[in-house]
Amino acid sequence: MIRSMVFAVVLTLVALPVLAADPPAQAARGKAIFFDASKKTQCATCHQLGKEGTPVGPDLTQIARVAPKAFEISMLSTRTVYAKEVETKVKQKFAAMIAAENDKEVTLYNLNELPPEKMVVPRDSIYAIRDNGTWKHPPESTGYTKEQIADVIAFIRFVASGDTKGVDPAVLK
Ligand code: HEC
Repeated sequence: MIRSMVFAVVLTLVALPVLAADPPAQAARGKAIFFDASKKTQCATCHQLGKEGTPVGPDLTQIARVAPKAFEISMLSTRTVYAKEVETKVKQKFAAMIAAENDKEVTLYNLNELPPEKMVVPRDSIYAIRDNGTWKHPPESTGYTKEQIADVIAFIRFVASGDTKGVDPAVLK
């Protein structure tokens, strides 16, 4: 028992540097796109990967497991699943991602700001929280090529599971 635990710890120690190692070429290109600080809508503005970025949107390591085409569709989709519309009692409306909530307050990211603004809103100042009908995911309009999208998916897969196989852009066409 103890032996196998020691073995597991050693395995983890050996496996971690592999994940932290330099990504292969395609994933490295994807990393540059994901963290491209020259763009306001770089993925890291709203997604966290590893310990970097801001967790406004969903964790992408989960969805990286699906087929690349499905990943692309969910990224380019103009229909939202998680985003909400918040209306306050003073009749302000904005799109938001809810980060946490309790009886007294709602912690959210205001998607009408770029970068999205983290706010703690008292629950009694909120009139309604509805499904979002207006906010659209930004890369939809920023025109990434199939090659760039494949690079980004390759990078997320590399971080999520150490996958070094890469993603052939042809599967997105
Ligand atoms: C301005 C913020 C913002 C930026 C920038 C952004 N995203 Fe998102 N992303 C979101 C939000 C919010 C959602 C959840 C939308 C919803 O309600 O379905 C999301 C959802 C997604 C999804 C679907 C996830 C799922 O589990 O359904 C993918 C894939 C994705 N983003 C990829 C990317 C990639 C790749 C980039 C960079 C090229 C990027 N996003 C840039 C905010 C952003």
